[in-house]
Amino acid sequence: MTDRPYVLLSCAMSIDGYIDDASAERLLLSNADDLDRIDAVRAGCDAILVGAVTVRRDDPRLLVRSDRRRAERVARGLPPSPAKVTVTASGDLDPAARFFTMGEATKLVYCPSGALEKTRERLGGVATVVDAGEPAGPGTLLADLAARGVRRLMVEGGGTVHAQFLSAGLADELHLVVAPFFVGDGRAPRFVGDGSFPWHPGRRARVLEVRQIGDVVLTRYALSDRCPEA
Ligand SMILES: NC(=O)c1ccc[n+]([C@@H]2O[C@H](COP(=O)([O-])OP(=O)(O)OC[C@H]3O[C@@H](n4cnc5c(N)ncnc54)[C@H](OP(=O)(O)O)[C@@H]3O)[C@@H](O)[C@H]2O)c1
Repeated sequence: MTDRPYVLLSCAMSIDGYIDDASAERLLLSNADDLDRIDAVRAGCDAILVGAVTVRRDDPRLLVRSDRRRAERVARGLPPSPAKVTVTASGDLDPAARFFTMGEATKLVYCPSGALEKTRERLGGVATVVDAGEPAGPGTLLADLAARGVRRLMVEGGGTVHAQFLSAGLADELHLVVAPFFVGDGRAPRFVGDGSFPWHPGRRARVLEVRQIGDVVLTRYALSDRCPEA
């Protein structure tokens, strides 16, 4: 699939590799300057993908926050914020979630064929619900997004979604931020769980950049030769 979108994975984790804690509250890992950097990355993408657990648990807006960046996008003939994309097998998403209610961008919900009917019933009024086949793998999503004109996709987690793109070899770049503390709770979600990944001791990913941003550290990795700096 040569014309799939460029896929940029973005994640913040604790020193011990957790992307959240086990509490009901959302854990803040990034700082204000890093959130502004993420905003700039978002503004440069056509679509942002998060998994359904992230929609349920974090209720993210997934909008470009900066007025200037929104205005620049509009001046380029784009909507103020990228399209929002999620994937679900359960279809159990709240149509009142901020993912659906905030911003005018296109909202796409991908689900396996077997869940199409119930997901359309529940979310058809607030999003375009797309049959992603059985199972709904990342390759199918990317092919459909490409057909919808998405050239650059930012994947913002959670770990289940990141792991699928990474293990399928369908990620071009990874932005990994490490926050300066430990979570230390095995009940909390990790960046990725067990899996077979194309990068291992015999095939190391290439570091493009290491940048300190206040009290966090960003490492940018090239994961494919589509990455312009690779
Ligand atoms: N630190 C960070 O940068 C960051 C960023 C984002 C999220 N998070 C955290 O990550 C945690 C959530 O991560 P997670 O790994 O549990 O979940 P997730 O990746 O957000 O979502 C997983 C869910 O997405 C759906 N899904 C994923 N792949 C699918 C496929 N191929 N076909 C059909 N449905 C699919 C399923 O939804 P259904 O259950 O509806 O079937 C699945 O349960 C939260 O605690 C959140 O706060 C952290």
